[in-house]
Amino acid sequence: MSPISIRSLQAMKAGQEKFSVLTAYDATFAQLAADAGVEVLLVGDSLGNVIQGQDSTLPVTVDHMVYHTEAVVRGNRRAKRPALIMTDLPFMSYGNLEQGLESARKVMQAGAHMVKLEGDDWLIPLVESLGRQGVPVCVHLGLTPQSVNKFGGYRVQGREDDKAEAMLAHCIALEKAGTDLLLLECVPSTLAARISAAVSIPVVGIGAGADTDAQVLVMHDMLGLNSGFTPKFVKNFLTDGRNVQQAFAAYVAEVKSGQFPAAEHGFSA
Ligand code: KIV
Ligand code: NA
Repeated sequence: MSPISIRSLQAMKAGQEKFSVLTAYDATFAQLAADAGVEVLLVGDSLGNVIQGQDSTLPVTVDHMVYHTEAVVRGNRRAKRPALIMTDLPFMSYGNLEQGLESARKVMQAGAHMVKLEGDDWLIPLVESLGRQGVPVCVHLGLTPQSVNKFGGYRVQGREDDKAEAMLAHCIALEKAGTDLLLLECVPSTLAARISAAVSIPVVGIGAGADTDAQVLVMHDMLGLNSGFTPKFVKNFLTDGRNVQQAFAAYVAEVKSGQFPAAEHGFSA
């Protein structure tokens, strides 16, 4: 089967078919996830938390992202239908245009198919420049974990009317600038639904309700492996006597059918 591309994702949005995104940090799980039908493998800087044992994503470097991207690329290559690989640019590796281009060059040359950046309309010059140079971009808005210190904790974003309107306006401006994908984390389900309807590029959600075009989860969370606090948006799929492959397949099936996320996994305005 032909690999998933940015065009496949656009076609799924146009055809109202939901797709699934799952984090991957190594070759073994990357292949299993792609073979289970996951469309996008996110080499997330959440690897700071789940792989390195850090308290946040801030200590993650571009070199770390390159190392894990290379591993994911190798596993994905062996999959029956390779997924699209999206790699996070980590904390303060895209603070200006030059630095952002250099960081993106490194992860793209490691084999990523697109990059993800946290921010809003301030990213427009970088999105435009990356687009001109052939690099697809996902912009991550809402609860952006690289800004945890500025937020004063991991909190739902976009609850106030003015903040919600600003987020919607930023998403529309980002689409106009050539952004290929949006990702909304921990925003009210009603706001995520409005944004998904307002743009023609696919919107991926986590803690953003059922009306986005796609869902993403951190692999360790959806296998029930998180120690301590479990966020409201997480569902453990490694239940009912399933193995890991079956848990991935159940996630893919529940995203496709709209069974996941349920109302209980989302946030009110
Ligand atoms: O790093 C990551 O895993 C992410 C997802 C939580 C969206 O950015
Ligand atoms: Na991330």
